Amino acid sequence: MIISTKIDLDQYPPSLIVPLSAGEHLPKALGRIADETGVPLSALQQEFKAELSDIHTLYVGESRMHLLGLGKQAGFPEALKAFRSFAHQYAKQLHTQIGVSLTHYHGELPAAQTTEAAVNGLLLGTYQIGRFKTKDLPELHPLRSAGARLELIVPAAAKDDCQIAAERGSAIAMTQMRIMDLVNAPSNKKLPAVLAEWAQQSGEQYGYSVQVMDKAEIEATGLHALLAVNRGSEAPPFFIIMEYKPKEAAGDLPKVGLAGKGVTFDTGGLSIKPSTNMHYMKSDMGGAAAVLGTMEAAAKLQLPVHLIGIVPTTDNSVDAAAIKPSDVIDSYSGKTIEVIDTDAEGRLILADGLAYMTKHFQPDTLIDLATLTGSSVRTLGYHAAALFSNDDALAEQLYQASERTGERVWRLPTWEVYGDELKSDVADIRNLGIRPMSGAITAAKFLEFFTADHPHWAHLDIAGVAFGDSEYTSQKSASGYGVRLLIDYLQHNT
Ligand code: BES
Ligand code: ZN
Ligand code: ZN
Repeated sequence: MIISTKIDLDQYPPSLIVPLSAGEHLPKALGRIADETGVPLSALQQEFKAELSDIHTLYVGESRMHLLGLGKQAGFPEALKAFRSFAHQYAKQLHTQIGVSLTHYHGELPAAQTTEAAVNGLLLGTYQIGRFKTKDLPELHPLRSAGARLELIVPAAAKDDCQIAAERGSAIAMTQMRIMDLVNAPSNKKLPAVLAEWAQQSGEQYGYSVQVMDKAEIEATGLHALLAVNRGSEAPPFFIIMEYKPKEAAGDLPKVGLAGKGVTFDTGGLSIKPSTNMHYMKSDMGGAAAVLGTMEAAAKLQLPVHLIGIVPTTDNSVDAAAIKPSDVIDSYSGKTIEVIDTDAEGRLILADGLAYMTKHFQPDTLIDLATLTGSSVRTLGYHAAALFSNDDALAEQLYQASERTGERVWRLPTWEVYGDELKSDVADIRNLGIRPMSGAITAAKFLEFFTADHPHWAHLDIAGVAFGDSEYTSQKSASGYGVRLLIDYLQHNT
């Protein structure tokens, strides 16, 4: 990536992307573009209104100039989406030498943020899902080919900020695509061992420590709830513990604990799911993916924070040995759980993840992410994660991060009355509320029971946002949700 402050008007890059905002500055900007390129102004004015994601292509000598509309008030999420969508749609027209010129952009978004949105969006737009095809492979996106070069032409005063922003945009995009690969992978290609190997390889490459417990160690440690979910499975479970600190740590760092649900496939267990959309349950490790990706991205960016990541991982399958509704199981916390529904398995493995985290690491802030309930999807649809927290300040910080990044969260309550639903006659708690209502909230209350009353805890139910419809695939696919949100949260609050 190259950052420059001037464009050579005699020699444009073969592909030049020019973001433009709609509104009062547009006529002037188009006037200058007409002067530079010799394209008649009237034609430009007629063809291009700079509405969000409008694209108009000019042929200037050997080069193509793509005017990209960012609308009137694009924030970071809108700009990101416009660049991403452009890179995807124009894959065939783009050259490997691509320029992005902010010279004519006069919108509200500062140059550094526009740069980050451009780099992050363009790279995400190159994502290809067909990893397991043997023929009809799509061509490699020009921006990902060996000789690809991306040049950003930015205002001189913002050059240094833009350089940092471009690198951040690229670092985050590459990790987002790696976790999208994980979430999109079918369960037979991502056994729990694959998540564990991913973490180990990532830790080695980016310099953070990873400890992986295998089944024997999980047994010796007493992670009983994870073992209970794994009873129906052929593949052994793993318990992944990651720890990151910046290389040059100055003073005391805030300690943030992240836990992610790593169910590599959720059949429901004996409380088996209907088959129609069961294939989507390969995405039931979306919370784990968000935690893995955040660890990696934080290490790449050397964020000034002490991060602990915990991922319990198993699939939830059917077998003679599988746990049955009514079984009472133990857990790492020592508390017993009456299993009413084996499909409420995510909360079981997270119960051990959370209890292990609070006992061994005592983080200042504790955040878990999980594709936990269909109830959260029925409540907020595919547009926002359900946020639960016992700490108003933390909830607000996560909400602000979601506004900045476009990875939306919306808070739901955690009032004690909802916990009454989980009282069991035979064990310390049951894994399902008595009535089939407010399921996302009772799930959150269940998790809270295993946080050892941590005063700064937040839970994100990402069932609706980790995996969904997109303009890039015909079936639902991974969104990469969580990495950008958490990195933004960490950057602004630690
Ligand atoms: N993995 C599912 C939740 C889910 C649903 C994720 C839809 C993504 C999309 C979870 O383990 C589950 O099965 N939850 C049940 C809980 C119920 C048995 C209380 C649900 O939400 O139906
Ligand atoms: Zn389930
Ligand atoms: Zn599940």
